[in-house]
Amino acid sequence: MINKEIVVCYNTIGKTLTRTFQKSTRKKIKHYTRGDDMSQSMAAKHSIWPREKDIIFNLSARAQQAEKELGTNNVINATIGALMDDEGKLITMDTVYDEYKSLDNKDISAYAALEGQPDYLEAVKKVCFKDYLPEGYIKAVASPGGSGAIKLAAWNYTEEGDEVLTSDWFWSPYVSITEEIGRKVTTYKLFDEQNNFNFNSFKESFLNIASKQERIFTILNTPAHNPTGYSIPDEEWDKIIDLAKEVSKNPDKKIIFFVDIAYIDFASDDNASRKFFKKFSNLPENVLTIVGFSMSKGFTAYGMRMGSAICITSSENVSEEFYYACVHSCRANWSNCNRGAMKLLSNIVNDEAKFKAYTEEKNKHKQMLRRRADVFVKEAEKVGLDILPYRDGFFVSIPCENSRAVCEELTKDNLFMVPLKAGLRFAVCAVNEDKCKIAPSMIKNALEYIKSKDLAEVK
Ligand SMILES: Cc1ncc(COP(=O)(O)O)c(C=O)c1O
Repeated sequence: MINKEIVVCYNTIGKTLTRTFQKSTRKKIKHYTRGDDMSQSMAAKHSIWPREKDIIFNLSARAQQAEKELGTNNVINATIGALMDDEGKLITMDTVYDEYKSLDNKDISAYAALEGQPDYLEAVKKVCFKDYLPEGYIKAVASPGGSGAIKLAAWNYTEEGDEVLTSDWFWSPYVSITEEIGRKVTTYKLFDEQNNFNFNSFKESFLNIASKQERIFTILNTPAHNPTGYSIPDEEWDKIIDLAKEVSKNPDKKIIFFVDIAYIDFASDDNASRKFFKKFSNLPENVLTIVGFSMSKGFTAYGMRMGSAICITSSENVSEEFYYACVHSCRANWSNCNRGAMKLLSNIVNDEAKFKAYTEEKNKHKQMLRRRADVFVKEAEKVGLDILPYRDGFFVSIPCENSRAVCEELTKDNLFMVPLKAGLRFAVCAVNEDKCKIAPSMIKNALEYIKSKDLAEVK
């Protein structure tokens, strides 16, 4: 057996892992298996993954421990991807939870329709598009959070082995979700040298995939991208859509945009951030847009697991196909979704007074987020800390090498943030203004220290 395989051993955070490839095809035939622990394995081969703890949760646990020992005032916990108040407590919107608690038990308890309750699906379209409903056939299917929407889209609109395109700065579960079903994430460079959207890199990767696959499935997380806080400007959307139109002239190609709008409710300008939806009107029939809607951030409903996949297409047939494909996946994976969460959203969205109160409450939090981000960005500029272009949202990113070492160094000053492949993620959503003001110089110092240490080691 072994001579039919190439076994590649390598070290990941101090543990030896092996990856086994078919010699002839170089296709991965075993996922990661621990070189040192092969005694008994029960899981199917495709279900064996590295046994490493999620780095975000690990650092987050360390930050919480430090908060317990030293008090929250003495710790900067910038690891959390949820909106926290100035004392570091989770913000839960009263207008949301008062509504939830007023629901009749039956509205929470009963099974929901597989595709989602009809009033929820209508309310989702209303709150997602607001004044910018595109023209075309638009159908929504309920999903457990935005994550469920990604799964619905990736499963139903890519083939096994397909490459899925997203930017080099991306939310890492895109890999888990697609990798689990035998797809592979490929990236383009999000920014060019001037820190503008790198359309050339996007185009190159898009065309490369188009040259070898029938489907070109692209995930664009905008506005208020995680982890950078970037939003794709409307004029760049025009170029992206023109490129899609060009490629769509080949009737054998199927172009799917998955637009992940998980953070849209925390973009400063509700209208400006939605204008781009109109651009998905009247596109060729072989261009399909799927919007991933989530209640997690916009309704502070992270644990309720409610979202939706919404298709926009100029073909009635494509929209019907979308609906039946997704409903089948719902049945096959999680059956129906959280009925109480659906009811609360439709009750709020369909009642003018409730929606106004909810919007006012959300806007207060949005303003708080904006103030924190402004302080961080301004201070970063002042101390000469390079950050990626932040526009809106929960996170700011700092490009750097050796991000794990920098993060580790910062923990000595009780600043906890998330190391990414190409930099650091600072959660302005979770850190008060005072701390956002002092963090940039701390990060700058740690970066310089690690850089000088690395240089000294090289010499
Ligand atoms: C970029 C991005 N997309 C989608 C999601 C999905 O969130 P949920 O499944 O909680 O709706 C998240 C959550 O953190 C995210 O950061």
